[in-house]
Amino acid sequence: MANISLRVNGKSHTVDVDPATPLLYVLRNDLDLQGPRFGCGLGQCGACTVIIKGEAVRSCIRPVSTVQGAEITTLEGLAVNGKLHPLQQAWIDEQVPACGFCQNGQIMTAKALLDKNPTPTDAQIRQGMASTLCRCMTYYRIQSAIKLAAKTITSARNEDSEQKGSEVIA
Ligand code: FES
Ligand code: FES
Repeated sequence: MANISLRVNGKSHTVDVDPATPLLYVLRNDLDLQGPRFGCGLGQCGACTVIIKGEAVRSCIRPVSTVQGAEITTLEGLAVNGKLHPLQQAWIDEQVPACGFCQNGQIMTAKALLDKNPTPTDAQIRQGMASTLCRCMTYYRIQSAIKLAAKTITSARNEDSEQKGSEVIA
């Protein structure tokens, strides 16, 4: 056992665990964050995905000791001041989930994808999401929701820069 320091969704935590413990177990069992799911436990399905340093990471196969000090974002960290992230809103608008089990991984993988490429093509979405599995076959709705979120994020950015531009002129 060892004291491990973690930064999760902007908060610092110290946990006393075996350093080899998968990050997923610590998030769910020690920090009570139930967004990341245990699916395969083998790094193959994506249900446990979190974001670390901008990358979608499968937390079921990541020893907790290897992510000390890194900023970790879970599904719980996406909403800001009670306002859902555009992806979460798009998931509702497009009524994406069926059983819902995989959807943490879908949203977190999509978040990492849009952070890197805010205007992905259909092919880029399919490629970026390809290894995040859904037994309920919600893939078409996932793709629609990602496109909707991309539109929302892009128009919010455009409005923001227009506003800043008019402030500079004024
Ligand atoms: S539970 Fe982590 S990839 Fe399946
Ligand atoms: S919604 Fe059921 S596994 Fe994806």
